[in-house]
Amino acid sequence: MTIPFTVRPADRLPAAERERLLAAPAFGEVFSDHMISIEWDRQSGWHGAQLAPYGPLLLDPATQVFHYGQEVFEGLKAYRRPDGTVVTFRPFANAARLNRSCERMAMPPLPEETFVEALELLVATDRAWVPEQPGHSLYLRPFMIATQRSLGFYGPSDAYRFLVIACPAGAYFKAGAEPLTVWLSEDYTRAAPGGTGAAKCGGNYAGTLVAQAQARERGCDQVVWLDAAERRWVDELGTSNLFFVYGSRLVTPELSGTLLPGVTRDSVLALAAELGYTAEEGRISVADWRADAGSGRLTEVFSCGTSSMITPVGHVRSAHGDWTIGGGRPGPVTARLREELTGIQTGERPDPFGWVH
Ligand code: COI
Repeated sequence: MTIPFTVRPADRLPAAERERLLAAPAFGEVFSDHMISIEWDRQSGWHGAQLAPYGPLLLDPATQVFHYGQEVFEGLKAYRRPDGTVVTFRPFANAARLNRSCERMAMPPLPEETFVEALELLVATDRAWVPEQPGHSLYLRPFMIATQRSLGFYGPSDAYRFLVIACPAGAYFKAGAEPLTVWLSEDYTRAAPGGTGAAKCGGNYAGTLVAQAQARERGCDQVVWLDAAERRWVDELGTSNLFFVYGSRLVTPELSGTLLPGVTRDSVLALAAELGYTAEEGRISVADWRADAGSGRLTEVFSCGTSSMITPVGHVRSAHGDWTIGGGRPGPVTARLREELTGIQTGERPDPFGWVH
């Protein structure tokens, strides 16, 4: 262990009640019995690590995170395999991204090993909360908040807390793997060059809620974010990344600094190449998206993210017209990548990349 953890066991939820909750978990509504917390301050660095009963935090109303939003988070999943073992997927990639987010938000890095040890301890303790049903998992939410008690905005907080909580998760979208209808937001943008778009921080999500509400009003599932300067290039989709499929060639928007470097995005790039597709990062304009969908050159589009996995995009709506990709039906490349990646995570397929932990 890089840092000693104190263990304060929880009164566990009775097994029958837990099984009832695990039967049909709505994403992010029900939480496992324990949580992790680790403190940081300038004198002592990281200390006070504990596994404690899941429960409310007692924080002073003047705690900095409530006012100035210094916060970062991660998301990854633990899977129960047919042989009963429980694994996580690429936890060191999430640890590294957390630290890149911390750097952008002037927060202290957490040693990657400590991040992974914290996950291991929580998952091992609350292993009964890892669902058995195919397609279900235990979603892990590590996050870090600024805990200095001060309204003075003089600089970064002097104290932080890192926490991990866990919730059983089924399909993120109600329609499962059915094609999404997406709304092209031209009124709002998510991130600008030099901003925080590549960091996984709460503010990036808060700023998207108005556009997401607009999308819902128009009968759409998610918002397509365009670049802030020209409103011409596709950045990402809602809370996930996007891939464009031209037959056997896949293109995803390049990491320009304004979109989130998704772990699933990175995994799809590697997996697609391994499966014999050409997988590239590039720039996709809205005009080309529409024209290529119309001509049939663009055969599929899919979104990818930890919570939503790989989901086809069938229809696009915008203030300047609507269009459909691949007849609005799920395509074979999307289905294959979803199946192969799920197979690696759940142990039904070999893991040539060493991603499973
Ligand atoms: C994830 O996919 O892990 C995310 O963080 C997105 C969140 C809105 C559920």
